[in-house]
Formats: sequence, C-alpha cells, structure tokens
Amino acid sequence: MKALVVIANPNPGSFNYALLDRVVGAFRARADEVRVLDLYQMGFPPVLSALELEALQRGEVSDEIREQQANIRWADTLVFVYALWWFDRPAILKGWCDRVLTQGFAFRYTENGVAGLLGDKRAVVLVTAGGSEDEFGEMGVSERDLLLPMALGTLRYCGVRNVVSRVFFAVPTESDAVRSRFLDDAADMIHRLPLDNARA
Ligand SMILES: Cc1cc2nc3c(=O)[nH]c(=O)nc-3n(C[C@H](O)[C@H](O)[C@H](O)COP(=O)(O)O)c2cc1C
Repeated sequence: MKALVVIANPNPGSFNYALLDRVVGAFRARADEVRVLDLYQMGFPPVLSALELEALQRGEVSDEIREQQANIRWADTLVFVYALWWFDRPAILKGWCDRVLTQGFAFRYTENGVAGLLGDKRAVVLVTAGGSEDEFGEMGVSERDLLLPMALGTLRYCGVRNVVSRVFFAVPTESDAVRSRFLDDAADMIHRLPLDNARA
C-alpha cells in the first residue's frame, strides 16, 4: 500500500501529532510505503488567488501544485488527520484541497455531470473535536454531519467513494486513558485496511 498522510495542525505537541505518529507507525508495521505532508511545516499557502484560478481554468498548473498532485497520484490511500475547526477542516487543509484538487486532475465536467477522477484511491479521515458526542447530539448533529464537508463535499466529488472515518470527540477534556484508547483505535483502523485493494 502507498499511503499519503496529510496533517494540518499548528502544534507539534498536539494530540493530532500523536495520531499522526500512530498512523504512520501502523502503516510501517505493515511494510506499507508512507509519505507525510505536514502542511504547517511546509508553510503551504492556502489561498487560491484570482490569478491562479484563471490559470487553472486555462489548464495551467504551477510546479508547486504539480508536486502535490504527484504525491496524490503516487498514493493509493489518502489519509487526513485534522482537528475540527468551525465544523470543518483547518483553513490550511481546506486551501490545500482548493488549490491541489483541480479540475482536470481530481474531477472534470462531462455531459452527464461531474466525474471524479480519483476513484482508484481510498481515504481515511481522522478528525478530533473539542465537543463531546452528547453536545453535538443536543444540536442534532451526528458524526456523519461533521464529516460531510471532507468526505462527501470533497472526496466523493473527486470520485473517492471508499472512505473510512472517525471523529474522536472531546479530545481536550477526555482522560489520558481515553485519549490513549483513541490512538489504539486509529492504529487499529489502519491495521484493518485491506492490503492489496484500495477499492475494497
Ligand atoms: C479555530 C478553532 C476552531 C474550533 N472549532 C471547533 C468546532 O467547531 N467544534 C469542536 O468540537 N471543536 C472545535 N475546536 C476545538 C478543536 O477541535 C480541538 O481543540 C482539537 O480537536 C484538539 O486536538 P489537538 O489538541 O490535537 O489540536 C476548535 C478549535 C480551534 C482552535
């Protein structure tokens, strides 16, 4: 398996980085190939500018974006690790999606509507949240709702239908024991990914 792990967290001491460590470790334990894209460490500029959008619409893609797309092309498994910020991804990851998942690379328009071009990939989406599951429940918000922007809005649009996901709730207030179980659960999710078929 070739896994591209994208992490979007500004604090190297965060729980998100502990998740990253466990996920990378779990892939390596299976002898899978792993590449990590640390968007904050890279200082990835997230804003899709007017100039860049015009260029993309003319089919011109910069070297910076081509390099990111080559990583995606290389991978059969895309992993996203991020904290829920305002019910969505941190802006740096949202901007990475805006700029890298371009028309002609990740999707295209056809007579029959939008065609996703990344259908040979699978994805793992690991999200941490400050709120508890009960607090979200009181608002009528399910775990699935929190994953909608990334899993459906972005990945499904690009043709990725095989998405394994998990929201880890109340991360800042849970005990160390629970957080440690969360890390075990994340590693377990990676161990349970089928070995050879990204579409399975
Ligand atoms: C800008 C910002 C926005 C946030 N928005 C939400 C939110 O909408 N819902 C939520 O449950 N937690 C929210 N949080 C809390 C984070 O999700 C939480 O602190 C994080 O998941 C903890 O993991 P970390 O320590 O690895 O960053 C927000 C935090 C920040 C800094």
